[in-house]
Amino acid sequence: MSKTSKTATLSFDDKTLELPMMSPSAGPDVIDIQKLYAQGGVFTFDPGYTSTASCESTITFIDGDKGELLYRGYPIEQLAEKSHFLEVCYLLLYGELPTAAQAEDFESRVTNHTMLHEQMQNFFRGFRRDAHPMAVMVGVVGAMSAFYHDSTDINDPWQREVAAIRMIAKMPTIAAWAFKYSLGQPFIYPRNDLDYASNFLRMCFAVPAEDYEVDPILARAMDRIFTLHADHEQNASTSTVRMASSSGANPFACIAAGIACLWGPAHGGANQACLEMLREIGTVDQIPEYIERAKDKDDPFRLMGFGHRVYKNFDPRAKVMKESADEVLDLMGIENNETLKVAKELERIALEDEYFIEKKLYPNVDFYSGIILDAMGFPTSMFTPLFAVSRTVGWITQWKEMISDPMLRIGRPRQLYTGPTRRDYIEVENRG
Ligand code: CMC
Repeated sequence: MSKTSKTATLSFDDKTLELPMMSPSAGPDVIDIQKLYAQGGVFTFDPGYTSTASCESTITFIDGDKGELLYRGYPIEQLAEKSHFLEVCYLLLYGELPTAAQAEDFESRVTNHTMLHEQMQNFFRGFRRDAHPMAVMVGVVGAMSAFYHDSTDINDPWQREVAAIRMIAKMPTIAAWAFKYSLGQPFIYPRNDLDYASNFLRMCFAVPAEDYEVDPILARAMDRIFTLHADHEQNASTSTVRMASSSGANPFACIAAGIACLWGPAHGGANQACLEMLREIGTVDQIPEYIERAKDKDDPFRLMGFGHRVYKNFDPRAKVMKESADEVLDLMGIENNETLKVAKELERIALEDEYFIEKKLYPNVDFYSGIILDAMGFPTSMFTPLFAVSRTVGWITQWKEMISDPMLRIGRPRQLYTGPTRRDYIEVENRG
């Protein structure tokens, strides 16, 4: 970020402050308020960070009005069409697309780390069978800090690199094993001759008793889902990872914190909530009732898979996802899928409705992803774990960027305190 000659003037009480401004390579200018409290004795108030740049970053850019998402400058549509997930991981981690030799080296480094320490199986077995796989993932990923001591020193660039590779490589194994455990089936070990998505599908759907052939079209669809979710700048879970890591916590603990945050229905949990909602709506004739409920201020119901904090035109990921949904259902010979019909009609009706137009609410990435994952055979409880597998590279890239920043300081927001002011303790017999 470069300082500009522009400044912003802030006047209050009898003070006037000149605040420096900075220019990003894309996006709106930024007012630097780092010295505001020291110079003016005031805080700013921005719950939910709607107007606050929490960090400087060179990884991902979103133009919410244009509906544009760029990873290191490359548009998501081009990456979804021409690239593949591991190449995108390289791009995010190192800033450039790899040469053929770099790609080969990176892929072999990732595939060499796909296995989990054998003793980690005990962690899976400690959970109840009906545990949500996200609960298992939070626990198991946090527990990695107890197994991989040689990659927890955040001050050593080599250890940071190993932690990043381990995380990307092992997350599919962890998610697949959480799934297998919930089914009561044996864990399937990774196969390093398969590509990332095929290996994941095989670990989820193979059983030792039978060979499992991965359909390349499904593997491609899976890979595309991973690519579309790989990073999304300073979203809630990424900001959680950054906040956790600002204290110097180890990478596995930080990513476990990110997974916990992702779980919520307003964030990564929306894909599960969305498919459940589409099923609850059930048939096209029920849609108007749900649209009315979504618009009713007294009803907490929201259209899941709709709306986004940043996209106010359309979510470019949703477009690609919709195409993939058609492709996958076609391939699987699923015709007249009622859920897909409900989704398309719901989208059509909502996009013509004054409420959704005025509030700029469009389908987001989660609106169609559940339909694809369902067709692939995943239960809804696995949707958010799949998001976690994809987003791991984003979290770890943002973590690496933050840790190597010489300006790193612990994240410590201020508050607008509106509670009681100082008062004296009251003995119990004098209360009430
Ligand atoms: N259905 C109905 N009304 C909505 C919806 C919705 N899905 N989303 C927002 N609104 C309304 C909201 O009631 C508010 O109305 P008003 O101004 O009258 O109070 C207005 O639109 C602005 O909403 P907001 O909650 O202030 O917006 P936000 O930027 O804080 O929230 C959001 C963004 C994604 C949390 C929200 O749109 C939402 O809850 N959507 C459903 C959950 C979902 O699909 N989440 C996945 C997001 S994409 C994947 C990811 O990031 O993980």
